Amino acid sequence: KESLRGVKDLVDSGIRELPRFYIGSDSRMRVQSSVLPPGGEVPIVDLRELDGSDRGRIVEAVARASEEWGFFQVINHGVEAATIHEMVEVAKEFFAMPVEDRMEIFSADLFKRTRFGTSHNPSRETSLEWKDYLRHPCLPLEESMQSWPTKPASYRRVASDYCRGVKGLADKLLEVLSESLGLERRYLGSVFGSERLQEMFCNYYPPCPNPELTIGIGEHSDVGGITLLLQNEVEGLEVCKDGHWYSIKPVKDAFVVNLGDQLQILSNGRFKSVEHRAKVSSDKLRISIPTFYQPSRGARIRPIPELLDEEHPPAYKEVTFQDYLADFFKHKLQGKRCLDSYKIL
Ligand code: SIN
Ligand code: FE2
Repeated sequence: KESLRGVKDLVDSGIRELPRFYIGSDSRMRVQSSVLPPGGEVPIVDLRELDGSDRGRIVEAVARASEEWGFFQVINHGVEAATIHEMVEVAKEFFAMPVEDRMEIFSADLFKRTRFGTSHNPSRETSLEWKDYLRHPCLPLEESMQSWPTKPASYRRVASDYCRGVKGLADKLLEVLSESLGLERRYLGSVFGSERLQEMFCNYYPPCPNPELTIGIGEHSDVGGITLLLQNEVEGLEVCKDGHWYSIKPVKDAFVVNLGDQLQILSNGRFKSVEHRAKVSSDKLRISIPTFYQPSRGARIRPIPELLDEEHPPAYKEVTFQDYLADFFKHKLQGKRCLDSYKIL
């Protein structure tokens, strides 16, 4: 499996059956078609009147979604539809190129910030995830762009527009989330600091001959601050609530927003960093483009003092974001193991 050039390449070579090392070694790494859980759907929040009369209602809706689901979708979010469509198209083009063009930037090193990769950590995994990806940093933008792929030729132009748009939305959401916690608008922004990180992935999940035996990405919570995910029209993302898995239905031009471990610590457990996973399909190509918006490496992550009192003592130990990251990436994706290790018991 070390000679892999990704799942797209396997599919192109004409495989009819799932290779052995993609068969999930346990129930977390394969997903049978699941029974639909009763009621409930990840809330959709319309941001159209965010700067107008509707702000209070939006803050309220975001608070409720962040407490109950750790996930919501946003529409009328201000990132232009054309920018979104071009981004999805250029991601498709990247994977439509001959595999040799992708292999020019292939690396299996998890710490290499710009690279083409497959699965999560192939040399360490007994079963692989049915996924290829391009990942790269987005901040500071000009400097980051120098590391981005030069093929397809429009990649840098399209992705830089996209990164600017998403950063604008992420900054607005940080303000809303601050207010949702009853804090001053700029609170979370100042915790994230001036060297905050923005990184993105273009995930490519091609049709799979035996989708029920494998997984696109196994269950995990996100390590960072907030995640803004764009998905094409193909279902697959599922979120866990009260022990059930709920599918997040694609909504045209919407972003799926979810909160990572750092927000759960900062909010002292009020906001949830929730486990999610992605299934694959037998006949459809799924593309997802998550942006991870994260605190500066040196940021002090601890329950926000203003949220603490006698009835709400700190529930998590203090950690810098970089120490948390180092801890997280020492292990394979394992649910909320990392977050649990910072709990004050
Ligand atoms: C992720 O959780 O990073 C990706 C999920 C998805 O592909 O929808
Ligand atoms: Fe995730």
